Amino acid sequence: MLFPKPSDGAVLRGGAKLTMFSERIGGLDGHGQDHAPLYKQLQRALRDAIQKKILGPDDALPAERDMAEEFSISRITVRKALDGLVSEGLLTRRQGAGTFVAARVEKSFSKLTSFTEDMISRGRVPRSEWISKAVGAVTPEESLTLGLSPGTPVFRFARIRYADGAPMALEYSTVAGFALPSAEVVGVSLYEALEATGHRPGRALQRLRAVLFTAEQADLLGVPVKDAGLLIERRSFLPDGRAVEVTQSYYRGDAYDFVAELNALS
Ligand code: GLP
Repeated sequence: MLFPKPSDGAVLRGGAKLTMFSERIGGLDGHGQDHAPLYKQLQRALRDAIQKKILGPDDALPAERDMAEEFSISRITVRKALDGLVSEGLLTRRQGAGTFVAARVEKSFSKLTSFTEDMISRGRVPRSEWISKAVGAVTPEESLTLGLSPGTPVFRFARIRYADGAPMALEYSTVAGFALPSAEVVGVSLYEALEATGHRPGRALQRLRAVLFTAEQADLLGVPVKDAGLLIERRSFLPDGRAVEVTQSYYRGDAYDFVAELNALS
């Protein structure tokens, strides 16, 4: 075929100047036929384009007024859609330069998502390498954190988490025994396994602190010893208030940006 089809985003990627942005990422679902508000329809189109790699890391988005014109929606609607994706960490704004697809993995602090979901939504392929999978009795420290009585069974999972083949984090999870039938049911995603048994957490507390990687951690992550990392501890709960998981995640400091949206007290 001599000429690329206008709808084929991959073919047209290099020739962005000749191609309308709406042709690259696809139009909105159709003003009104879809019941989602227009800003959500635009968010969905952008999310899909990032996931399908039609838009790649550091790609610039057109100016808000140009997008408004192209999609026949108001600038306020475009801004609202972009604001949402910026606070989710999928897009970043650079002063004076515009809005770009986030290059580092930006992780929103206010969304209770799994590693697997975070990676897939950014068009990355998640993978885990198991360090260990075990069942045992709760330790005194875990029993305090998870609110379990001494002797209760728990599952312990230790994994190296990868995105597109690059190691991103080490994760050590303890999961309350009642939440899973066995350690073997956990494949790539712990949250998928918890969801399947009706024990996916609905709320979590997280604390974050800077760490220097030990020799063992650095080796597992393929970074220099004493490199800076982020330790995130997540304690998550079921809707009925029971704690279900405590995970210590050691993220590579150079791979992650954590993003939080803050609102002024009114
Ligand atoms: C994040 C959280 C962990 C959680 C994990 C589940 O990394 N920090 O607390 O256990 O997601 O991810 P997945 O379902 O991919 O195993």
